[in-house]
Amino acid sequence: MSSWWQTGIVYQIYPRSFQDSNGDGVGDLPGITQRLDYLQNLGVDAVWISPIYPSPMADFGYDVSDYCGIHPLFGTMADMDRLIQAAHDHNLRLILDFVPNHTSNEHPWFLESRSARDNPKRDWYIWRDPAPDGGPPTNWLSRFDGQSAWEWDAQTEQYYLHSFLAEQPDVNWRNPDLRAAMLDVLRFWFDKGVDGFRIDVSYRAMKDAQFRDNPPNPNWREGMDPAKRVIETYTRNTPDIEHFNRWLREVADEYDDRVLIGEINLPPHELVKHYGRSLNGLHLPFNFNLIFTPWDAAAVRDLIEMYEAALPHGAWPNWVLGNHDQHRIASRVGTAQARVAMLLLLTLRGTPTLYYGDELGLLDGEIAPEQVQDPWEKMVPGLGLGRDPERTPMPWTSAVNAGFCPPNIIPWLPLNADSVIVNVASQQDDPDSMLRFTQKLIQLRRETAALNQGRYHSLPARDGVLAFARQHGAQTIWVVLNMTGEAKSWTLPDDVGETAVLLTTASNPPIITGNALPLHPNEGVILAV
Ligand code: GLC
Repeated sequence: MSSWWQTGIVYQIYPRSFQDSNGDGVGDLPGITQRLDYLQNLGVDAVWISPIYPSPMADFGYDVSDYCGIHPLFGTMADMDRLIQAAHDHNLRLILDFVPNHTSNEHPWFLESRSARDNPKRDWYIWRDPAPDGGPPTNWLSRFDGQSAWEWDAQTEQYYLHSFLAEQPDVNWRNPDLRAAMLDVLRFWFDKGVDGFRIDVSYRAMKDAQFRDNPPNPNWREGMDPAKRVIETYTRNTPDIEHFNRWLREVADEYDDRVLIGEINLPPHELVKHYGRSLNGLHLPFNFNLIFTPWDAAAVRDLIEMYEAALPHGAWPNWVLGNHDQHRIASRVGTAQARVAMLLLLTLRGTPTLYYGDELGLLDGEIAPEQVQDPWEKMVPGLGLGRDPERTPMPWTSAVNAGFCPPNIIPWLPLNADSVIVNVASQQDDPDSMLRFTQKLIQLRRETAALNQGRYHSLPARDGVLAFARQHGAQTIWVVLNMTGEAKSWTLPDDVGETAVLLTTASNPPIITGNALPLHPNEGVILAV
C-alpha cells in the first residue's frame, strides 16, 4: 500500500504571497483557508507552507524566534488550528516548514546563549575562540554574502557561527538539550495534527566536529556567487548528518502517516544517502536536479536514469521544478515549454512538488531596485541571486492587485505586470489555459495507477524528444515530450498495438500514422498503450 505522500502531489505556498485576508498587503493563514476550495479543485493532495512563525523577518521567516507560535502578520494560533482542520476537511494534508539549522538572533535561546560563557544554553549554539591570528576560527563562508560565517561577539569574546545571515545563528545539534528542545517542536505540531515537515537546509545541520577549513574551489571566478569560493566539504552533508536524519525520523515514527521532506541541494548519488541506510532517514530528500540540469531531452533523460539507478531499494523518488529560492520554471524554460515542464513533473515516477502559480505558467516578476525585499539581493546586488522575482503575489482575478489584496493597498511585492491577463479567474474561463491543462493532467495522474505509482523506463528517442513509459500491472502509459521549439516526429516501438492519446499540451490530439507520432513544437503527449 502506498502512502499519501507517495501517490500524492505537494503544493508549496509562500504564505506572504498567496492571499491577504486583512488588507495589509501580506498573505496570511485565513487567506490560505479561504483558498482551500481552489486547491482541492486543482487536485493536489498536500500543502506545504513556508514559515509562519514569529520572526524578525531578516530572512522572511527563515529566522524563527519562536517555533511554537504564529507571527501576527500571518494570524493567530486559532487561525492555524482552523487551517489544519479545514485542510483536512478538504482532504488536504498540511506540511509545515521546520528550520532546524539556525534560529533568529532574537530567539530567547540565543539571547541566553550569548549572555555569558557559562550560561546553560551557551552550547546550544556554535561558539568558538578566535584562530591563533585573532581572526575567525575557520574559513567557512556565509551562504548569502560569501563573507566569513563567523560573527565576533565583543561581550563574551568569542565567535558564533551563522551559515546564512548574522541574524541567523546556527544551533548545535550535538548538544542533547538543544536536540531535545528542537525535537519537541516537531511533537508540538504533530500533536496538533500537522502531517509532516519540509526541513530547511537539513543537510547543513551537522558541521564537521573537528572544524576543518573548507577547501578552495578551483573553478571559482570573479562575478560568480561569492559563497562558492570554497567547496563545502565540512559545512554540509557531513557523514554525521545520518544521525540528525534519524533523530527526526524517530519522532515522526511516533505518529501515524507523517512525512519528512529534506531540503538537500546535492547531485543524485549524494542526496539519496539521506533516505538512510535502512530507509530510516528522511522519507523524501528533495531532488532538485531538474532545476540544475540543462533543459535538453538527452540531459534530462540521463538525469532521470541516474537518479532512478541511485535510489536505494524501496526508496520513493520525488521531483521539483521550482520553489521560493529559484527563478520560475516558465521564465527558465520559456512560456512555450512551461506545459511540457508541467507534464514532465507530473508524469515522472515519484512525488511531485508544485510551486504556487506554476499552474498558471507564472513568470518571474519585475522588481525595481527600490522594491527589493530579499536580503540576498541587498547583500550581493546585480548577480541575479535575489529571490523576489519568484515570490510575487498570486494573481486571482483581473482586478487591481489581482484579488490578492485590496486595490488601494500596496502589496509587499508588486503583482506581475501581466496579472490582468494571467490570473486564476481568466484561466478558469479559458478551456485552453495552462490552469485547465494542469487540472486535467492532475486528474489523469490521480486516476491512473501507472502514473502515480508505476515503474519507469526510458524509451528510445532522439533529436530533442524525451520519451518514457510508466507501467503498473497491465497498464502501460507512454509520455513523449518535444523539448524543442521545432516540429518533430517520434517513432513508436514496432510491436505496439492500439494506442490512444490521453492528453496533449496542444489544442488538438496528434494523428498517429503507421508508427509515426507527429509532434508540434513544444508539444507533450500522454498515450495509453
Ligand atoms: C533555505 C530556504 C531559504 C532560506 C535559507 C536559510 O534555503 O529555502 O529561503 O533563505 O534556507 O534559512
